[in-house]
Amino acid sequence: MARRELTFVCQNCGALYGRWQGKCDACGEWNTIAEEAAATARPPQPGRAPRKGRKFALEPLTGETHDAPRLACGITEFDRVTGGGLVRGSVLLLGGDPGIGKSTLLLEVAAKLARARHRAVYISGEEAVAQVRLRAERLKLADAQIELAAETSVEDIVATLSDRDTPRLVVIDSIQTMWTDAVESAPGTVTQVRGAAAALIRFAKRSGAALILVGHVTKDGQIAGPRVVEHMVDAVLSFEGEGSHQFRILRAVKNRFGPTDEIGVFEMTGLGLKEIANPSALFLSERDLGSPGTAVFAGIEGTRPILVEMQALVAPTSLGTPRRAVVGWDPSRLAMVLAVLEAHCGIRLSGHDVYLNVAGGLRIQEPAADLAAAAALVSSLANAPLPADAVYFGEVSLSGAVRPVAQAAARLKEAAKLGFARAVIPQGAANESGGEGLALNGVQSLAELAAEIAAHGTPSPRADRRAREP
Ligand SMILES: Nc1ncnc2c1ncn2[C@@H]1O[C@H](COP(=O)(O)OP(=O)(O)O)[C@@H](O)[C@H]1O
Ligand SMILES: [Mg+2]
Ligand SMILES: [Zn+2]
Repeated sequence: MARRELTFVCQNCGALYGRWQGKCDACGEWNTIAEEAAATARPPQPGRAPRKGRKFALEPLTGETHDAPRLACGITEFDRVTGGGLVRGSVLLLGGDPGIGKSTLLLEVAAKLARARHRAVYISGEEAVAQVRLRAERLKLADAQIELAAETSVEDIVATLSDRDTPRLVVIDSIQTMWTDAVESAPGTVTQVRGAAAALIRFAKRSGAALILVGHVTKDGQIAGPRVVEHMVDAVLSFEGEGSHQFRILRAVKNRFGPTDEIGVFEMTGLGLKEIANPSALFLSERDLGSPGTAVFAGIEGTRPILVEMQALVAPTSLGTPRRAVVGWDPSRLAMVLAVLEAHCGIRLSGHDVYLNVAGGLRIQEPAADLAAAAALVSSLANAPLPADAVYFGEVSLSGAVRPVAQAAARLKEAAKLGFARAVIPQGAANESGGEGLALNGVQSLAELAAEIAAHGTPSPRADRRAREP
């Protein structure tokens, strides 16, 4: 028998190397390269001619299509993120930290479908059947007709699922525990995970079952091991949460069949995940009223307005290089806002540490948060609490101008609904309708707003006095 060829595979991104090295050139990770048996092509079988290609029929664009290609499971927060429900024959990867609630969420989804008389199969490669049953009992789902198994062999799974009528949903928890005979590498290696995913995806496409794969996430937020799997699936969802909070946010990272900017908000309880239909109320529930450095941002996530508190702390630094730390927002946008404050508003922050935090563990991607972030920063620096009944939104340009943003009316409406009395917004949006009962305060430039906030301040002896100059 010929000597097996060995290759070195990055366990993070799947890049191939001829020999071991400490750092992967492709993804930059350290110590992720491991030796794996190469996936060699099968040698030709003696006495059998090499297989000729099979002819197949080409189809026109028009023709029979499956009816009801989408199936909403009835968990609104989940359905919204998937783009309206599970698509037949589609494959979805759900990533998230261990313990965040992936198994809980998917058991609930499967139970919803099973109760609606769809065939739902849940395959656990991590837990024994008894453990899954215990969870189902705790979640009061034990009566749902989910078909359950603890299996890890992809061939066995595909054979079992192909045996009867096609399931409407198959959950594989998790893809990292699956292995296939077609690949020689050890279970858990990238080659195995990729091979197992490929076989399961083939099954989904062929049968029309919707497939959900669970994937673990590494500390930097990548779905562990096979980033390659992300490219193989139709949608990638990530389930996130802050350790200290009970909130869980489901977010679409990639979606071939729907939008990628929608979020679903849940609360983890002993009885499972509770849907949060009004996230603004939740994110604002722990507000520290009357303290400087906080501003309420009227944001939009997908189609939904969400109000959230931005908290800033600006303090004189004791270090040569001041610290800039951000949780929940883009560090480069913070750097830009700080540069604009410095260049156009006369606020010097080079001697200050700056911390910015988005409350509740939400991650904001919108530039519309510029104005709220800037207001919180100036408020902290000047020791001037912002009015507790005001919301802020607007994009700040490099010239210091405050620019209008999309969906102003929806933001104002949400603020009015939650009892806010005024909105500090771009001048261009000041005649916007939507916020009945809200006093609209249009601002043209960041300098104007900064001066106004600082004028109400009572700077502590150590605060930078320059902040009070317009
Ligand atoms: N007995 C319990 N009572 C309340 N919450 C529980 C209980 N057991 C587990 N949980 C919650 O469920 C979470 C684990 O969820 P799980 O779906 O197993 O996560 P994952 O599959 O993402 O690892 C725990 O972090 C905890 O918050
Ligand atoms: Mg789990
Ligand atoms: Zn790599």
